[in-house]
Amino acid sequence: MKKITIVAGLLLLYACNTYVGLPEKVTQTGFKVREIPPYPQQTGGDPEVGFDYLLNGDYIGSGVPLSLFGKRTSRRDSILDRPGINATLPYMVTAFETANQISVVNGNCFTCHSAEINGQLVLGLGNSFSDFRNNFSVMSKGMNTVMRLRYKKDSEEWAAYEDFGAYFKAIAPRIRTNQPGVNTAARLAEACAMHRDPSDLSYREQPNFEMPDYNIATDVPPLWLMKKKNSLYYTAVGRGDFTKLLFQAALLGIPDSTQARVAITRFKDVLAWLETLEAPEYPFPVNQQLAAEGEKLFNEHCSKCHGTYGENPGYPNKVVSLEVVKTDPWYASYAVDAPIVEWYNQSWFALSEPKSWFEPQAGYVAPPLDGIWASAPYLHNGSVPTLEDLLYSPGRPAIWERSEDSRDYDPVKVGWKYEAKTKKAGKWTYNTRLPAYSNVGHTFGDKLSGAERKALIEYLKTL
Ligand code: HEC
Ligand code: HEC
Repeated sequence: MKKITIVAGLLLLYACNTYVGLPEKVTQTGFKVREIPPYPQQTGGDPEVGFDYLLNGDYIGSGVPLSLFGKRTSRRDSILDRPGINATLPYMVTAFETANQISVVNGNCFTCHSAEINGQLVLGLGNSFSDFRNNFSVMSKGMNTVMRLRYKKDSEEWAAYEDFGAYFKAIAPRIRTNQPGVNTAARLAEACAMHRDPSDLSYREQPNFEMPDYNIATDVPPLWLMKKKNSLYYTAVGRGDFTKLLFQAALLGIPDSTQARVAITRFKDVLAWLETLEAPEYPFPVNQQLAAEGEKLFNEHCSKCHGTYGENPGYPNKVVSLEVVKTDPWYASYAVDAPIVEWYNQSWFALSEPKSWFEPQAGYVAPPLDGIWASAPYLHNGSVPTLEDLLYSPGRPAIWERSEDSRDYDPVKVGWKYEAKTKKAGKWTYNTRLPAYSNVGHTFGDKLSGAERKALIEYLKTL
């Protein structure tokens, strides 16, 4: 008896420790499908200037002094072939000069928004190999210690690091996950907002709001879809002017809204570059006849939500309620009540022109499917490894492991090669039994026959 109580107690403790702060689950959404209206976007940006700014620009505001890294190698990073101080840095980080003229390093958009497929780096493809299970608090402490040893508190280097150091410390416990491969960017933005004054974006020691301990993360969407969308993000939360929404990444290190005002004008060019992005083409042979059969099935069963492709392209910009799509509800359930919504809608982002605001929905956007062959794993939480599994829900693996090699691509099931497991195996094992990561719902392919699904998958390769 005693033994059982102890075991039960330990289990309870374990459960509490792991899942404290799961949001209230939304059960009534009050809508089935909603269309997101368009909002006028800024035009006239220069895509080349925008791309250069994303790779070499100062939008993160502050970072770790470049001089901290000592003597650097002279080996050029052959992937992007960048000029100047970035020539020898890997593509996912950028060195830039801060307002007080110190060269610092920080991550750039491509840390999360680029990935390899079949051994080829694709800029704009979501990186599903980040590991947010790391203990970032330890990393943050380590960084502060090294900074203190190396630079005086009143040095220019310390000043160039200070904003990033403070935000990183604050966000560290808020971005840790219990699942590999998924990304907590949304929590990262929220944790930064937690310590920023909404009106001038300056640092506030006292948090503006509380955040739950259980951090829900997602897959990273491909950037070439943006040009079709009237809202950003899985829950359609991002509305209004896209330049402002994209600039949220800078919440990690900009000092305040004065610098934001300067940088935001550059995001018109970034937007123009994002609008030039195209989905990569499927690199293996396609059976055209089978694909043509698949197209008919797609137009019959799928296009009302996902749009049409080829000769008559169209995209309806629909958000589908949790009750209809029935995929894992936790991400959207949290989004509708997340404290960042109120913060954002009272902040510089929403109150100054051009305006952007947050309007989350208790559902998920039915995304455009361009380049869908390349963007496994599938669904907002990345819980389904291949299109075959996505289109037949009883076949989806509960626990699955993949390798780290992007050449382990499966052209038959279309997506990641994987092995189904009965318990956690290697580093890249996805566990759909963890809260927020279930692979349920989106059963729209189940009613089709095996042959019909084959045809449909062949068609999806061509998008
Ligand atoms: C820490 C990782 C990370 C960084 C850095 C990052 N993003 Fe993202 N981005 C994400 C994730 C994750 C999402 C999906 C969040 C969601 O929809 O709830 C996302 C969503 C987006 C979307 C919306 C896509 C869609 O279909 O709705 C765009 C556009 C975007 N990011 C652009 C950028 C740009 C530009 C930068 C650099 C200024 C950037 N991101 C930096 C992880 C990141
Ligand atoms: C009622 C609307 C609706 C219908 C019908 C529908 N879908 Fe979806 N689909 C969605 C929504 C919403 C999502 C996003 C769900 C999520 O992320 O949790 C989605 C996600 C997907 C994804 C994954 C996208 C990604 O990037 O992860 C694919 C692939 C897909 N659908 C294909 C299809 C196909 C093929 C059909 C036809 C058999 C179909 N869908 C029918 C609404 C729909």
